[in-house]
Amino acid sequence: MDYEIKRLLEKAKQAKENSYAPYSNFNVGAAVIGKNGKIYSGSNVENSSYGLTICAERAAIFKMVNDGEREILAILIIGDTEKFLPPCGACRQVISEFSTNKTIVYMCNKYEKFKKMTVDELIPLKFSIDFL
Ligand code: THU
Repeated sequence: MDYEIKRLLEKAKQAKENSYAPYSNFNVGAAVIGKNGKIYSGSNVENSSYGLTICAERAAIFKMVNDGEREILAILIIGDTEKFLPPCGACRQVISEFSTNKTIVYMCNKYEKFKKMTVDELIPLKFSIDFL
């Protein structure tokens, strides 16, 4: 099922406008819809100490978690890229923490076309609570 793609796309695009990326000039926006039906968006926020940068996906997910929601129904990522923009490895791990086998990841390009995958497809061998 395609969860509110249009709303997710609009929110992710708005978030991308607020991306703070003076070092890479690579602007990213993300939006997640939680099980509670709310949409949370985020953009990448860079830092002069480069390693402190946070990706758009994690910014959006942390907003959701801070609002008390723990389950992502879907997440959409958009950048000004020709190719569909995939989440980085760190973000895949964080997405997996709050996902089920039904969670959908929509990866958009600058033409607003997308490719969709499940989290299991994106990170088949995830580290999880099962190992702790
Ligand atoms: N970035 C994201 O926000 N999400 C991704 O999935 C890939 C990378 C950001 C981090 C950094 O600000 C810039 O894109 C270039 O790596």
